Amino acid sequence: MSATVHVDLPGRAYDIMIGPGTLGQAGHKIAAMGGRRHVCILTDKNVAALHLDALQDVLRDAGLTSEALLLPAGESTKCWAQLERSVEWLLSQKVERGDIVVAFGGGVIGDLAGFAAAILRRGVRFVQIPTSLLAQVDSSVGGKTGINSPSGKNLIGAFHQPSLVLADTNLLSTLTPRDFLAGYGEVVKYGLLGDAAFFDWLEAEGPALARGDMDARVRAVTRSCQMKADIVQRDETEQGDRALLNLGHTFCHALEAATGYSDRLLHGEGVAIGCALAFELSARMGLCSQESPSRVRAHLRDMGMKVDIRDITGDLPDAAGLLDLMGQDKKVLDGKLRFILARGIGDAFITSDVPSDTVLKVLDDALKG
Ligand code: GLY
Repeated sequence: MSATVHVDLPGRAYDIMIGPGTLGQAGHKIAAMGGRRHVCILTDKNVAALHLDALQDVLRDAGLTSEALLLPAGESTKCWAQLERSVEWLLSQKVERGDIVVAFGGGVIGDLAGFAAAILRRGVRFVQIPTSLLAQVDSSVGGKTGINSPSGKNLIGAFHQPSLVLADTNLLSTLTPRDFLAGYGEVVKYGLLGDAAFFDWLEAEGPALARGDMDARVRAVTRSCQMKADIVQRDETEQGDRALLNLGHTFCHALEAATGYSDRLLHGEGVAIGCALAFELSARMGLCSQESPSRVRAHLRDMGMKVDIRDITGDLPDAAGLLDLMGQDKKVLDGKLRFILARGIGDAFITSDVPSDTVLKVLDDALKG
């Protein structure tokens, strides 16, 4: 089973090819895109050890030479120093305006490599070959690229759409269960924000999907990408609807900042906890029934995921401290926090009309348990 999702942006349209073995298409797809017969790959050391030979083999089979820069794995790679290193390396490889840069890795590599491609010679084309579930369903699609600042996550960046996304679902089998489930947090997000039937399906099929059912994996990645493509087509630069994709992220970014963007909390884990908190906040504000946050939490629990703030190990700031960290979020508009809340599962909306007292109470209750 495989699928293609088309992202129909004027002048910047591209395909997302999803399925087991799509990596094998990288050679002829990239060769057909023109440019020099030399491809520069940005990747990380972990991905390179597992999959770089396979990628370079298929490029070679299509008559392309390639060179790879192996960056350190982990969120701290999304920084000025590694961006500078990547851009200077691409220049040393003599990448020209018509060439293709390949981002081969998870969300960190995709964001960093995409940003390097966006600013190199005022923009070169790049192909995303996402290797994590999180990158396959979210970060490799839609053109958000960038790095983190000491002031906050993803505060430096550009919109730069890839020219092709190859989501090879076979690569997911090398993820640790923790990384896989972190990515699943973003999959659940799509059901919660706009497709109640998809959430129903995840409740039924999520455990099989986690165990490795390939058809279920392809279906989940495809539905997620289709939903993201629909939203990005409506609102590429997040003037409106695209913010729906940030369901759970206002809470998540505060928790990530509080844990120092460390292994204590992976981004997708923060998204899952953040989604549960967003539904809890929605219920407290009378927007949805208490059944909705209970269902969200039950499903995350069934999947063996982090559900509550208390599932994060170590010390955290108090509720006021977390609210303060939320104020650093990009989604602050005119000094007011913007939240994605829900009228029910599959029915999210964007609002700045959220009393801080209620947010504080939700956080305080979550911290105390
Ligand atoms: N990850 C959210 C977005 O791409 O807009």
